[in-house]
Amino acid sequence: MSYKEMYAGWKADPESYWMQAAEAIDWDKKPSKALFDKGENLFEWFSDGMCNTCWNAVDRHVDAGRGAQTAIIYDSPITHTKREITYAELKDRVASLAGALRAKGVEKGDRVIIYMPMVPEALEAMLACARIGAVHSVVFGGFAANELAVRIDDCKPKAIIAASCGLEPGRVVHYKPLLDGAVELAAHKPEFTVIFQREQEVAKLTEGRDFDWHGFQHGVEPADCLPVEGNHPAYILYTSGTTGAPKGVIRHTGGQLVALNWTMKNIYNVDPGDVFWAASDVGWVVGHSYICYAPLIHGNTTVVFEGKPVGTPDAGTFWRVISEHKVKSFFTAPTAFRAVKREDPKGELVGKYDLSCLGQVYLAGERADPDTIIWAQEKLGVPVIDHWWQTETGWAIAANPAGVELLDVKLGSPSVPMPGYDVTILDDGGHELPAGELGAIAVKLPLPPGTLPNLWKAEDRFQKSYLNAFPGYYETGDAGMIDKDGYLYIMARTDDVINVAGHRLSTGGMEEVLAGHEDVAECAVIGVADPLKGQVPVGFLCLNAGCSKPHEEVVKEVVGLVRSKIGPVAAFKLAAVVERLPKTRSGKILRGTMVSIADSTAWKMPATIDDPVILDEITVALKSLGFAEDA
Ligand code: COA
Ligand code: AMP
Repeated sequence: MSYKEMYAGWKADPESYWMQAAEAIDWDKKPSKALFDKGENLFEWFSDGMCNTCWNAVDRHVDAGRGAQTAIIYDSPITHTKREITYAELKDRVASLAGALRAKGVEKGDRVIIYMPMVPEALEAMLACARIGAVHSVVFGGFAANELAVRIDDCKPKAIIAASCGLEPGRVVHYKPLLDGAVELAAHKPEFTVIFQREQEVAKLTEGRDFDWHGFQHGVEPADCLPVEGNHPAYILYTSGTTGAPKGVIRHTGGQLVALNWTMKNIYNVDPGDVFWAASDVGWVVGHSYICYAPLIHGNTTVVFEGKPVGTPDAGTFWRVISEHKVKSFFTAPTAFRAVKREDPKGELVGKYDLSCLGQVYLAGERADPDTIIWAQEKLGVPVIDHWWQTETGWAIAANPAGVELLDVKLGSPSVPMPGYDVTILDDGGHELPAGELGAIAVKLPLPPGTLPNLWKAEDRFQKSYLNAFPGYYETGDAGMIDKDGYLYIMARTDDVINVAGHRLSTGGMEEVLAGHEDVAECAVIGVADPLKGQVPVGFLCLNAGCSKPHEEVVKEVVGLVRSKIGPVAAFKLAAVVERLPKTRSGKILRGTMVSIADSTAWKMPATIDDPVILDEITVALKSLGFAEDA
């Protein structure tokens, strides 16, 4: 089948298309239909089916005689550990953990926060929740205690499962004190925590509240898989929005099972038994979909890699892991390849390894620049596929469906829409734009299975953030165009989201932190182009009249403040003090113009600017930080 036939087949009869895809999933009760229209532009999938995520990701493979196949390969160049867990072992481990959670009172629908680094136990914790119908919310380890506290207060977990520590090159991340700090800060208190003690740092446990991962499983009855409704929430994953308050993206059980399973062959071109590796983190959507769920649901072997593209120990780590574990499809962020390329531009380390197992490479999370794609194609000799998606969608909106038909690659484009996504470019008034014209990228409702049906306890915000701007469409928050051949081009965000080393961050959230500093009267944060990380945040501060503190001191303090309030992952290291911020006459800060000056791209003096002279000061400040070189 060609891509065109596949896409047309879906468009002609979406209901049958997804019902057929649902055949690949084990149901305790088959859904009577695929799409459920709830009104108000809200849609759900497979709502009246009954199924269990963990059954589909683990037990059914054991039942089918594949218990001895490796489910998870743990490879940690940081701790010098390699370990393999078979599907049969995974089933026992997850059933035991699920049984222990249930013995402590965790039931279907209860929320459980998981705060863990890249160890197999993080996946086991996710699967254990799924097994008993609990709703997990994984929080990325690079966030500070305050961010964890915000999530605790929003989803109100009954329990938190955490590791004692995470390991960054040259630095131990003290998870337990961060967790204690977050619980202290939060208004909601979890009933108990479970701590997975790592030998690199054993945490002190609080009697009666903290339980040891192994100890609390002792003597408990393992739990069986509990069938849940197709529209039962599988998880909540928080992502950056337009304010400091993150949005709780919900994923439903049935849609996720069907959609993720579908992607493994059609997009990632792997068959059950093949090794699939996504070098991301369980704290991000890529980790949810492609380290944990999709490969396991599809019966693949997944790699849990605790390391970095460079420095653990060198820029050949990716190639070593691919070759050693016979990875067929590999998924990473462009920034990771840029880091490797910077250290090993000629790709000399690639030649040290036998990469004949590798079929194709996938890039997502940020714009894939043509240089990086060409470099990877040349060095690895396999197709390098850019694909575009978001935390909200859970799987690719646009991709090159290598398992169906490998289309011609157009550099700078993540190729074409996948079945389920009717992608359109709209102008500000919501009118469809012709091929080649730039506008807001929107997807005609309903979104396909596996995408977000709503935000956690925030339906108004869901409507406002995604549905109100263009009635009948989902607003992606990205701007771009579609060419005459139907290829998509993603150019920029239409909101305040920036992408730093493949990590999605909100400049609005950072501005809230800066504004909280006692000497800051007004501020702005913009995302400036960076050759390694794609973008980096840069802050501008106007100080209160009478502030006598040296500017460097205030800058140092706000940098520390963002690190302690949002976390090291914000990578907020650059700020400058200025007299005034450039604004329109109505008082809107001209962030877009500041970004253009910083990136030395063409820009026009905004007609509505209040005082153009301020831009000269901004240019000087940007130059002092190493930007706006050609301005
Ligand atoms: N726990 C705690 N801290 C973390 C962390 C985690 N899981 N992940 C990152 N951090 C910290 C880093 O240690 C760093 O701290 P520092 O300021 O003390 O050095 C900070 O957050 C910024 O991290 P990052 O932006 O990742 O920069 P880096 O210099 O450490 O590494 C790359 C640069 C390109 C190698 C790295 O960003 C990378 O591998 N990116 C891939 C991104 C990715 O997989 N994204 C997922 C979407 S597919
Ligand atoms: P996240 O929710 O963290 O996955 O981030 C989603 C955002 O990252 C998208 O809305 C885009 O802005 C950006 N993004 C993801 N993949 C791509 C891609 N292939 N090309 C361009 N931008 C991308």
